[in-house]
Amino acid sequence: MSQSINILAIESSCDETSAAVVEDGIVLSNLIATQKVHEKYGGVVPEMASRAHMQNIIPVVDVALKEAGVSKRDITAVAFTQAPGLIGSLLVGASFAKGCAQALDVPLIAVHHMQAHVLAHFIEDPKPSFPFLCLTVSGGHTQVVLCRSHLDMEVLGETIDDAAGEAFDKVAKMLGLPYPGGPMVDKLAKDGDPHRFKFPLSDMKDYDFSFSGLKTSVLYFLQKERKQDPEFAEKNMNDICASVQHTIIRMLMNKLKKAAAQLNIKDIGIAGGVSANSGLRNTLLQTGEELGWNVFIPKFEYCTDNAAMIGITAHYKYLAGQFADRSITPTARAAW
Ligand code: KG4
Ligand code: ZN
Repeated sequence: MSQSINILAIESSCDETSAAVVEDGIVLSNLIATQKVHEKYGGVVPEMASRAHMQNIIPVVDVALKEAGVSKRDITAVAFTQAPGLIGSLLVGASFAKGCAQALDVPLIAVHHMQAHVLAHFIEDPKPSFPFLCLTVSGGHTQVVLCRSHLDMEVLGETIDDAAGEAFDKVAKMLGLPYPGGPMVDKLAKDGDPHRFKFPLSDMKDYDFSFSGLKTSVLYFLQKERKQDPEFAEKNMNDICASVQHTIIRMLMNKLKKAAAQLNIKDIGIAGGVSANSGLRNTLLQTGEELGWNVFIPKFEYCTDNAAMIGITAHYKYLAGQFADRSITPTARAAW
């Protein structure tokens, strides 16, 4: 009988400390410790994130191993997020993973965070068939990715400035909502009129996006309205959230539809934290019905940052023999 591939995976690129155990491509555990320390600052404070990762990482890994019922001796490889992310946060996960791989004398696997978001589609059924298109939307990225196989992906287009999640978070901040604003805007938008306020739709070349114009236009709009009525935002919160969300979704969907039509691809997925947005999910499902797409949306816990997606990516890298040198260091920005 051949030995199982048991991967201990670590994710620490931003403000989630996560550890997962993936056995032969099956997720046995996926622990996520979300750092609450940033809430009062309205955004992630990098130095505090690194410190919180240092406090969390050992207990999170311990519980992930216990929940999986796997002992350290059964681990066949250790995987970690190598890029992109906050450098101090990445360093904590990288150092821990390298130390573990060294101590257990098992291979080390370096994973690109954005590739892992896409491969979250392979954690559970139904899984997309190749080639498929993935709209990867997070707090740091907005990309249209062509996936030819598990490890052969091409970024067709991306944002030239802010990411979609950043647009949600920055607008939320202007409205006085707590960080991270995306989930709050989503919730408030449910009771709002998406057509009440009009914001500009930017259209970049090919499959690229831009969200900084939207942010500026919401800022000027609020400044103007608040001059007439200082409580304008509070009184119209639901409609503002719904209108902004509608604009972001239209910009995302325009590029996704364009790519799907030009490449004649029917398997379409979304990934990253913003794919938790209920408006985006509904629009995607509805568009899918209209255009005959097979739509794939990972379970919520696999959409936002998590180590299960790092583990599943590492599983395919293990099968392909793609191991990292133990001297490898993380990088804040990296193409893939
Ligand atoms: O992928 P992720 O967990 O971390 C990064 O790699 O950035 O994404 C976090 C982003 C944040 O900007 C957050 O506001 C956004 O995802 N987000 C949402 C929702 N849930 C999370 N944005 C809109 N609607 C949501 N329901
Ligand atoms: Zn992410």
